[in-house]
Amino acid sequence: MILITGGAGYIGSHLALALLEKGENIVIFDNLSTGHIETIETLKKYGNLNFYQGDLLDKNSIDKVFEKENIESIFHFAAFSQVAESVKNPKKYYRNNVVGTLNLLDSMIEYRVKKIVFSSTAATYGEPNYIPIDEIHPQKPINAYGQTKLMIEKIMDDYDKAYGLKSVRLRYFNVAGADNQSRIGEWHEPETHLIPNILKSTLEGGKTFELYGYDYDTKDGTCVRDYINIEDLVNAHILALKYLDNGGKTDYFNLGTNNGNTVKEVFKMCEDITGKKIPVKLMPRREGDPKSLIADNAKAKDILKWKPEKSLNMSINSAYRWEIKDLINN
Ligand SMILES: NC(=O)c1ccc[n+]([C@@H]2O[C@H](COP(=O)([O-])OP(=O)(O)OC[C@H]3O[C@@H](n4cnc5c(N)ncnc54)[C@H](O)[C@@H]3O)[C@@H](O)[C@H]2O)c1
Repeated sequence: MILITGGAGYIGSHLALALLEKGENIVIFDNLSTGHIETIETLKKYGNLNFYQGDLLDKNSIDKVFEKENIESIFHFAAFSQVAESVKNPKKYYRNNVVGTLNLLDSMIEYRVKKIVFSSTAATYGEPNYIPIDEIHPQKPINAYGQTKLMIEKIMDDYDKAYGLKSVRLRYFNVAGADNQSRIGEWHEPETHLIPNILKSTLEGGKTFELYGYDYDTKDGTCVRDYINIEDLVNAHILALKYLDNGGKTDYFNLGTNNGNTVKEVFKMCEDITGKKIPVKLMPRREGDPKSLIADNAKAKDILKWKPEKSLNMSINSAYRWEIKDLINN
């Protein structure tokens, strides 16, 4: 049995759907703090899913899952992940992300579960020294969110040495897109990610899109990011577990495309796909936004045998279909 923490959220639910469609039996553990019960209801239509509403900060509630279910491996998505909020309220982030993960890892040791795939982030690298960023690039986070993820990576190394707990840490760049059939999609409140925010501004009552920073030293003055499609990202998770199942050692991989797009390029693609002129307001730079973040993904290609296949255009298309699905269905 596979346990997914945070499976009611954006990325975890897309992995859950892929596993259910492969006929896997899964367990989701989520406190629904940023995830949605509606997502769980949708997932239940596609296979055998046991849902436990519980908080990782309550060790008893996660222990109960291990007692009742025969868990063999874990995908650990449950975390808070808003960078700006983490700077204003670090205690919320250290407690939830670090203490929550410690509870999970300690339960794993007690119940002799040895394999975990963990959602890390490009934010562990901080301001890049060079581009594209490979896995040996120094990890110097510039916000509390990135720090929590780096701490967990270090804890996982020590837990391997002492308790033989094998982990794969996947360092995501910018995740984009939704399920191709619009059954589930990106649903954050408030939404802080670029693509859904641009797309939302085209909808009835949508706000003017605020573009932060237009004087960077990039080809059009706006920040460059590496957008990785959600379905490609999910495939990497499945390959990461296969790698651990085959006896792979504890390791870490970047998940990105080796390509970057500027905010203006993303904006233009959104206009082309929606066929709408998007209202935009140019704003000054935000503190802590590196000008360019691009992954070197050679290691994941080489060791996990992973290859991203979907273009940014496809990600924006699926994200748009998800945003307008209620308008189409009503
Ligand atoms: N979305 C991205 O672009 C991105 C990039 C890099 C890393 N990540 C990481 O990927 C993971 C998933 O991100 P997402 O965008 O799907 O976020 P999300 O907020 O949609 O999902 C996180 C889920 O975890 C649950 N959760 C949080 N704290 C919990 C706790 N203490 N106990 C139980 N459940 C808890 C939430 O209710 C939610 O369902 C996170 O760990 C995030 O840091 C995301």
